[in-house]
Amino acid sequence: MVVVHFILEDGSERKIEVSVGTKLTQAAYAAGIQIQQTCGGTPSCTDCMIKVLKEEEGGSLEEMQGPEKRLLGNVYHLTKERLACQAVIRNSLTIKVLKIEVKKREERE
Ligand code: FES
Repeated sequence: MVVVHFILEDGSERKIEVSVGTKLTQAAYAAGIQIQQTCGGTPSCTDCMIKVLKEEEGGSLEEMQGPEKRLLGNVYHLTKERLACQAVIRNSLTIKVLKIEVKKREERE
């Protein structure tokens, strides 16, 4: 088991133990956190973006695979941002759930 430490936008924190191989969205759900997933994990929306604040040496998430890499590019070492719907946990880590702003649809005249 590994520990996922979530920091929410309001500053509150939650921790949960999960098995290696669990996706971040599943860990969040188990901790009572609803990460927005507009595309349902296709992935295409990037609404589920999180930021890794602390991880074990060598990384705490599996390497990005094709669809996630296409959406986010190859700059994780700079941004520390991942898609929660794609990221698979392999060790303990601390993440920040980023604020998702849903834009209101503009009314047509
Ligand atoms: S839920 Fe849309 S990219 Fe993750």
